[in-house]
Amino acid sequence: MTTSWNADLYDQKHAFVSKFGESLVDLLAPQPDEIILDIGCGTGDLAQEIAAQGAIVQGIDASPEMISTAQQKYPTITFAVQDAATMHFTNEFDAIFSNAALHWMKQQDSVIQRIFQALKPNGRFVAEMGGHGNIASIVGALRQSMHDLRFPYIEDYFPWYFPTAEQYQSMLENAGFTVDGITLYERPTPLQGEDGLRNWLVMFSNNMLQHLSDDEKERVYTKCEELLKPSYYHDGQWLADYCRLRFVAYKQYSKHSISPSK
Ligand code: BEZ
Repeated sequence: MTTSWNADLYDQKHAFVSKFGESLVDLLAPQPDEIILDIGCGTGDLAQEIAAQGAIVQGIDASPEMISTAQQKYPTITFAVQDAATMHFTNEFDAIFSNAALHWMKQQDSVIQRIFQALKPNGRFVAEMGGHGNIASIVGALRQSMHDLRFPYIEDYFPWYFPTAEQYQSMLENAGFTVDGITLYERPTPLQGEDGLRNWLVMFSNNMLQHLSDDEKERVYTKCEELLKPSYYHDGQWLADYCRLRFVAYKQYSKHSISPSK
């Protein structure tokens, strides 16, 4: 199933994605005139943050809906519908940035190889994604709800990839990257308002529930709310159990490859 995105709902109810990404922009530390690719740019808010610091930014996203909204919001930035697993750039970018997008990409090996190829020598790859344990309680509640309601749970419809730091570090290194730092950390994430969990499910659980009717989906949302409310809803606020994997990696040539005789 190709994921289709509601860009308006994303901007209205899930602006926290870009808000949390601001500290990742600080880690990227964009310099004036650097050429930077933002992978999975969504509706473009962080691409704009990066551009505001003087860098020349290109944003790509596999969703035409997201790119159309991004282009309307920020007409001076170049955006394109593009899948990172099949992009063709060679030695073009000083840095590649990605926030909350890589975990949607199932072909991780291709994505990492293409990012490596797209960077200039010594270019940096600065990213954050869902890591091991991310939204475990929400996934558990979806499974439990479908079981209780006697709807089939189809493993192949699970759309995400949440690696450990060790797994991702070795994938980066296998592609040729030098990893400068990688960390997995818990970041409980507030979901706006009483309907926060429901809005999150409407926005993000489409793949997993694609075989259900709208009415059946509603029943799953309600069941998930019942299951999660005691632990994840306090004082009018839902908290989702996000775990983030954040890293900086460089396209550096090892001493060995620069000078094979040594
Ligand atoms: C995340 O950013 O971790 C995430 C967002 C939506 C669905 C799954 C994970």
